[in-house]
Amino acid sequence: MIASDEHLVLVGLMGVGKSTVARIAGERLGRRVVDSDAEIEARTGRTVREIFATDGEAAFRALETDALIAALGSEERLVIAAAGGVVLSAANRAALTDAPARVVWLCADPKALLERVSAGGHRPLLDDDPLGTLQRMSAERGELYREVADAIVLVDRRSIGDVVDAVLR
Ligand code: S3P
Repeated sequence: MIASDEHLVLVGLMGVGKSTVARIAGERLGRRVVDSDAEIEARTGRTVREIFATDGEAAFRALETDALIAALGSEERLVIAAAGGVVLSAANRAALTDAPARVVWLCADPKALLERVSAGGHRPLLDDDPLGTLQRMSAERGELYREVADAIVLVDRRSIGDVVDAVLR
């Protein structure tokens, strides 16, 4: 169970269902949900795709860090759908470990993710060779997600309700 003094943070690769699970978990817990990409778009008035195209990935990663640190620093206990790349930065990983937060890694086979990520939208990194990119990201980030996670929930072949139940347990 999530303690009332802890944020619930969902991490994992693109397409794993962080936003959907966060929305349902937020309803069940009666908590506000903060979704990293939506937060960045609201703060900047620009889309994630525009930020990548105009300012580059490094600028986007800085905004991602700002959004994470702000959410983790909130007095209100939240459900936080962190962006997939949040674990790339050692400072972000330290913030996740040090914060009053329960971090859950939603973990899936990259092949299963491919069916769930739509073209376009807020995932410019998947424009070319999406399966290869997801497989590379899975290999590069697996250990990083594991490092910050208090719990791991496998999502392959599970219904969304089942995943939410597992996350809340
Ligand atoms: C990214 C994940 C995306 C978005 C951006 C980069 C990543 O968010 O922040 O396209 O590097 O994993 P989601 O994890 O919400 O899809």
